[in-house]
Amino acid sequence: MSRFIVSGGERLFGEVEVQGAKNSALPILAATILTKGENVLHNCSRLSDVTTALKILRYLGCSANITGNTAIVNADNMCGSDIPNHLMREMRSSIVFLGAILSRTGKAYLSFPGGCELGPRPIDLHLKALKKMGAKITERHGILECSTDKGLKGAKITLSFPSVGATENIILAAVRAKGTTTITNAAREPEITDLCDYLNSCGADIYGTGEGVIVIDGVDELYSTQHTIIPDRIVGATLMSAAAVTHSDICLKGIIQSHLNSVVPVFEEMGCQLEFSKGDLFFKSPKVLKPVSLVRTMPYPGFPTDAQAPLMAVSTLCEGTSVFVESIFENRFKHVDELTRLGASISVQGKVAVVQGVKHLYGASVEAQDLRGAAGLIVAALGAEGTTDIGGIKYLERGYEDFEVVLSSLGANVKKI
Ligand code: EPZ
Repeated sequence: MSRFIVSGGERLFGEVEVQGAKNSALPILAATILTKGENVLHNCSRLSDVTTALKILRYLGCSANITGNTAIVNADNMCGSDIPNHLMREMRSSIVFLGAILSRTGKAYLSFPGGCELGPRPIDLHLKALKKMGAKITERHGILECSTDKGLKGAKITLSFPSVGATENIILAAVRAKGTTTITNAAREPEITDLCDYLNSCGADIYGTGEGVIVIDGVDELYSTQHTIIPDRIVGATLMSAAAVTHSDICLKGIIQSHLNSVVPVFEEMGCQLEFSKGDLFFKSPKVLKPVSLVRTMPYPGFPTDAQAPLMAVSTLCEGTSVFVESIFENRFKHVDELTRLGASISVQGKVAVVQGVKHLYGASVEAQDLRGAAGLIVAALGAEGTTDIGGIKYLERGYEDFEVVLSSLGANVKKI
C-alpha cells in the first residue's frame, strides 16, 4: 500500500499544468458506449478511476485504452450488459454506466456501487428517473436488474436534489431515447456541461446545460468524435490550498476561472491574491493567513464539497476561527481526526466543523480514509513542521495523477514509498 512521506515547511514556487477533470472523464467514457466508431479523448488524466472505467468498457466488449493522456475507445463490438461486482465496487461513479448500457442494449445488470465511504450514497434519484423513462428495475441480493422491452422513452423529470450522478445517468439514457426528456433541478456542474458538449459533438441534441433545466431531444445515432476534457477544478483548488498553507506564490496553467468562482472568495478572505490571465492563475499567499468566517458546501455554482477537506487543512493554520458546513454528504469529516493528530484544533457537531487556527502543525503518522481527505492531509503536511507519513494513498490515486511529482515540481519535499 503506497504511502507519502512529506517534509513540511518548504516554500513552493514555479508553475504547473492542472490535470484533466476526473469527474468529466468518467461520464464521458461511459457515454462512448452510445457512439459508433473511434472516440479520441485528450487531456484524460491517468487515474485509478479512469483505469477502472476502461476495464469496464473492455469487459463490455469495447476496445478501450489510454496512451499518455489520450484515451481511445471504440464501442462498435460491445456485447455485454453487466458489470461485475469487483469493478462496481472499485468506484462509486460506475453507476453512471447504467444509463448508457440500458440505452445501448436494452438491459443492464449492476451491483450497488462502491467508492469512498462518504456516508450513505443512495441511487434512488437515478432509479426513479430511469423507471419514468420506461426501465423495469428490480433489486435482488445487491444486484440491479434493469430492462426496457420497448426501449427508453423521453420523460419530464424533476430531481428533488440536483444530483450530479443522477443528472448524468438521465442524460445518457435520454440522448438516444424516443422523444424529449427534460430534467428540472438538474445539477449544473461544469463536468456535466463538458459531457453534453462531447455528446452534442457526437450528434446529440442537448440544450440548457448549466442552467438547471436540461432538455434532451432523443436522436437515433451518435457518431464518435475527438474531445478535450476540461481542467480539474478540484485539483486546481487543492494546489491553491498547497500554496496558501506554505505562504507561496505559484502559477497554475490551464485553469478555467468561472469554474472556481465560489472558491476564489474563500482564498481572498484568507488574504491570498488571485490574478487570472489567459487561462493561467497567478496565486500569491500572505505571510499570515486570516480565517474564513463560513464555508458552506453547496451544489454548483456553490462551494464544492470536494474542496472542503483541502481548504479545512489550510484553515487549521489561519490566525482565528473558521467554520465549515458540509451540506452535501453525511460523513465527509473523516479527515478531521487525522488533522487533529497533526496538532489541529477542530470540533465537529453534525454537519458543522469549527476550526481554531493554531500557530504550528507537527509531523505525525496519519491515514487517509477517502480521496479528498487524502488531499487535505497532504496540504496540512506541507504546512506542518517536520515529517508526516500519510497512508491510504490508494484513495488519492483515484483522483490525482502523479501528485507527488506535481508537488515536487513546485519545490515540495514529497516522496512516495
Ligand atoms: C459526484 O458524486 C462526484 N463524483 C463527487 O466527487 C462529488 O462530490 C459529488 O458529485 C457532488 O458534487 C463524480 O462525479 C464521479 P451526487 P455523486 O449524486 O454523483 C445524495 C470526488 O471526490 N443522493 O450529487 O455521487 C447523495 O447521497 C467525488 O471526486 C441521493 O440522495 O454526487 C449525496 O448526499 C466524491 N440520491 C448528494 O445527493 C441519489 O440518487 C450528492 O450526491 C443520488 C445522490
